[in-house]
Amino acid sequence: MNIKQRIDFLRDEISQHIHSYYVLDNPKISDFEFDSLMSELQDLESQFPEHYDSNSPTLRVGGEVLNSFTSVKHKYRMLSLGNTYSESDLLDFDTRIKKLTDQKFRYVCELKYDGVSISLTYKNGELFQALTRGDGTKGDNVTLNVKTIKSIPLKLFGDYPDLLEIRGEIFIEKQEFESINLNRLKRKEELTNLHHSRVGLIEDPKEKEKVEKKYLAEIKKLEPYSNPRNFASGSLKLLDTKEVAKRPLDCYLYYLLGENNPTNSHFSNLRKAKDWGFKVPTETAIFDNIDGVLSFIKEWENKRHTLPFEIDGIVIKVDDVSVQEEMGFTAKFPRWAISYKFKAEQVSTLLKSISYQVGRTGAVTPVANLDPISLAGTVVKRASLHNADQIAKLDIRIGDIVYVEKGGDIIPKVVGVKLKHRNLFSTPTVYAKNCPSCQTFLIRKKGDAKHYCPNSENCLPQIIGKFEHFISRKAMNIDSLGSETIELLIKEKLLIDISDLYLLKIEDLLPLKKKGKKWAENIIKGILESKRIPFERVLFALGIRYVGETVAKKLTNHFANINSIINANYDQLISVDEIGEKIAESVIDYFNNNQNLTLVNNLISHNLLFESHYKETLLSNTLKGQSIVVSGIFNLHSRKELKDMIEKHGGKNVSSISKKTTFVLGGDNMGPSKKQKAKSLGIPIISEIDFLQKIS
Ligand code: IVH
Repeated sequence: MNIKQRIDFLRDEISQHIHSYYVLDNPKISDFEFDSLMSELQDLESQFPEHYDSNSPTLRVGGEVLNSFTSVKHKYRMLSLGNTYSESDLLDFDTRIKKLTDQKFRYVCELKYDGVSISLTYKNGELFQALTRGDGTKGDNVTLNVKTIKSIPLKLFGDYPDLLEIRGEIFIEKQEFESINLNRLKRKEELTNLHHSRVGLIEDPKEKEKVEKKYLAEIKKLEPYSNPRNFASGSLKLLDTKEVAKRPLDCYLYYLLGENNPTNSHFSNLRKAKDWGFKVPTETAIFDNIDGVLSFIKEWENKRHTLPFEIDGIVIKVDDVSVQEEMGFTAKFPRWAISYKFKAEQVSTLLKSISYQVGRTGAVTPVANLDPISLAGTVVKRASLHNADQIAKLDIRIGDIVYVEKGGDIIPKVVGVKLKHRNLFSTPTVYAKNCPSCQTFLIRKKGDAKHYCPNSENCLPQIIGKFEHFISRKAMNIDSLGSETIELLIKEKLLIDISDLYLLKIEDLLPLKKKGKKWAENIIKGILESKRIPFERVLFALGIRYVGETVAKKLTNHFANINSIINANYDQLISVDEIGEKIAESVIDYFNNNQNLTLVNNLISHNLLFESHYKETLLSNTLKGQSIVVSGIFNLHSRKELKDMIEKHGGKNVSSISKKTTFVLGGDNMGPSKKQKAKSLGIPIISEIDFLQKIS
């Protein structure tokens, strides 16, 4: 055996042992034997660097220190899941998705691991790249950190596809987490004692202060980690890979993506992934109907605490991949999967006072100021009270002991009152009548849960909020301007209207802060660069109620320029894919206001982009104005490809058949009820070939 063969042998042997130990939980050799194989490989690799391999098991110990992570575009958007909290939510989900398909399908239930999600790409069986979720479109490249996680294979076994992407959750087991925290607390205590004895001996006050500072800084670093999830996500963000390698992170992989999946069943695909070396969920089950799902949830609601890791719910997925494809995605979530969240942890504490916050739209949110209390790993001082109705419904009063919980989102909320502890003299809460900032009388429109401050032009938090939204990353991305400077510029009357940003000059900024010319130049540069931001983001930046990123995109794709949007009537607006009544009314209201029209005109005069270039990329107008439903399985193209073609030729994809549908593009296995519906409404069903001819 020559050197290269010995190196290859050791790499294979060690990889097999890592897999047996970390994935199969079934070690085949002693630690001592393993260490000697590893040190032999390390020696050979350092003597013969010409045999370097970026996926050698020796790299699992880390070593490189990075400056930063590069951001990389996801091949497939990395979405999260919609949440449900009750049996009736799940029954609704079941009804909803059954309307989307005529095919028979099964449900798979998996545990919902509470960690941080990761997307892994393998090329020719080797780990090529690991990306965090990031904003769903782009994520951080954390490949080197991920290579240190032993249950993630660097090289696959068996009959894997040439290119594959698999997603999962990185986490740490509860016991490991607790022992790390205990260790930190012990070291913290030791260091605190040492600090007292050392500092006590120093006489020179200057020296004493210096040493004291050093100790306190070190002691602060030993604060316990708040919870296993934060520990996992914090670890992935470390720049020192050696530090990551020391952390006992683990990973379950639960979602195989790509065009060449081995089977049409999610469940079987994961079983295949297990053969290739991945650690896949084990506590799973497959059911023919939602009743099975409900019993699985009940079972795990009771058993969850017996697991070695934390879970925060159950994930329910449609097993059949072709049905998943048929159902597709909303802007945020897959339609074919959902998570059921276990009841959140609850604590009770004193409600000291209620304050009111005003957002950029003028919406007022009541906030509970609480006696600080620890909840699910963080100290909570403030919690949302939602709106006036909620306060009245729960009869929440200052001085009450209230129940607080963390729901699906991070912001805690008050969910009830301990009536037994109520003070005899407490009085019902009277909701604020005036804006806490500008004192304007608050209004509440019919059907709206929130109160609003109507003084949108002069109410400071609203003005600041509008500027903050306008310059934010997903809007005009003027990141050289911070909230603090915006506030200062507004107070100095240099900014009144959003378009004033484009009148700012370096000389205006210089006297404001002693930060120097570079700072001012940078701000002006950021503002000028924002003139290249595309129309869809400019429209989003205007901050029209209910016009988020996705809606802005839909509108700009459809209308091509701002004048068409301003002039669009209600019917024209709701004919756009995903634009409903509420959005249409809000757009009309916005452009009915003269002040908003002046703002748009001012921004146009500063040359911001108010035209979409999307139309130019259309291949033809053959399907212009046509609403098309794609249903079934096709021979020549995937459903996604066909839908893309429809858009590229000016058509609109809709999910269900109605009077307005122009035709159905029907493939094999198109369900009988869809066929029946098309027939009864007289809507033609055309084949893949006919469709391709139509657009050719
Ligand atoms: S599937 C497109 N399966 O929960 C569907 N996610 O709240 C991709 N998660 O973003 C996700 N356990 O980070 C899936 N068994 C599981 C999961 C799981 C935990 C996480 C994941 C997801 C988040 C949604």
